[in-house]
Amino acid sequence: MSGSIPHGNVLVNRFDPTADLSRATAEVELDAFALSDLELIAIGGYSPIAGFLDRHDYTSVVERMRLADGSVWSIPITLPVSAAVAGSLQAGDAVRLVYQGEVYGLLEISDIYSPDKRQEARLIYGTDDENHPGVKKLLERPDVYLGGPITLVRRADKGAFAAHHFDPVETRAAFAAKGWKTVVGFQTRNPVHRAHEYIQKSALETVDGLFLNPLVGETKSDDIPAEVRMKSYRVLLDKYYPAERVELAVFPAAMRYAGPREAIFHALVRKNYGCTHFIVGRDHAGVGNYYGTYDAQHIFRQFQPEELGITPLFFENSFYCKTCGNMASAKTCPHSAEHHVALSGTKVREMLSRGEAPPAEFSRPEVAQVLIEGLRPISV
Ligand code: ADX
Repeated sequence: MSGSIPHGNVLVNRFDPTADLSRATAEVELDAFALSDLELIAIGGYSPIAGFLDRHDYTSVVERMRLADGSVWSIPITLPVSAAVAGSLQAGDAVRLVYQGEVYGLLEISDIYSPDKRQEARLIYGTDDENHPGVKKLLERPDVYLGGPITLVRRADKGAFAAHHFDPVETRAAFAAKGWKTVVGFQTRNPVHRAHEYIQKSALETVDGLFLNPLVGETKSDDIPAEVRMKSYRVLLDKYYPAERVELAVFPAAMRYAGPREAIFHALVRKNYGCTHFIVGRDHAGVGNYYGTYDAQHIFRQFQPEELGITPLFFENSFYCKTCGNMASAKTCPHSAEHHVALSGTKVREMLSRGEAPPAEFSRPEVAQVLIEGLRPISV
């Protein structure tokens, strides 16, 4: 097979800057999270989804990880509004979708419903603990969901990332132009440290291209800002990766921190971007201790390979082993933990903000330098 077929076979395109907005009778204000979902629906990132989920698709996704038509989908794509806003609307209305005073889209409302958000939390995030950042966000957002097909009429500002912003139709064309038949997608919300580099390059040994696709939508406040990360990726790629085998593009979605459920979602979206393979390492999209180290790998067993249509590549927890003298995992290294260079994300973050570089076995010095500069408080 050459390249990958979009999920549901057709790449959704709901972008139409000339769409007739005169039917719209009201306005609905989006938050940044909903704006990124609106855009990703419209550009086909979430194919086959063509709008915010109605209650049938929503319930089906929450309860059985499938849309109502049976296709696999693991994260509900919803448009929450307040009860007051919902009370002034009814199914059949069309509304303008507005963000910071600009109209970005049109929603034809097919359904208005009040979800059981505690149940959504338990089934999607595996917990309804409000300390979980995804659950916190879910509970903070308004309580009534609007469902229905959307049209995007205006593209969101790409800001500093314009040079690395590509729609699925563009990444598919880029992979084809490079002659890549197999492409592995890599999701990250972090800088690329040595362990990330190791699993990417291990995968690249067996496929034609690497699609480095860092998430740059909303993340929790203690994650490293996307602007700083983007700079660190460019430095790393320039120095340590073969340019003709790597494509760097931003993934504009918000981070859910939903662990296993989000791993399935991340894989399906990368399939829409044209990937044939997708890396799932340890605690993919996890946070704190909410998920088991390999839960995000185990969840793939619940589906037939053909209903996913993208091949997950699983990697064990990786580290540098001083005695082996290279990167390794428990699968390839016989030595005990004291031989390994392993640091927690929190520890690394603390070192970087003190201006200290983590060991070169953990992070390339050039990457550490960019992170230290990027995280330095601005002096006044
Ligand atoms: S994520 O929330 O975007 O998944 P992160 O950026 O840390 O977080 O991880 C990106 C990918 O690399 C995920 O598939 C994750 O499982 C994997 N990963 C991160 N660190 C390691 C590691 N030390 N060993 C193996 N896989 C890892």
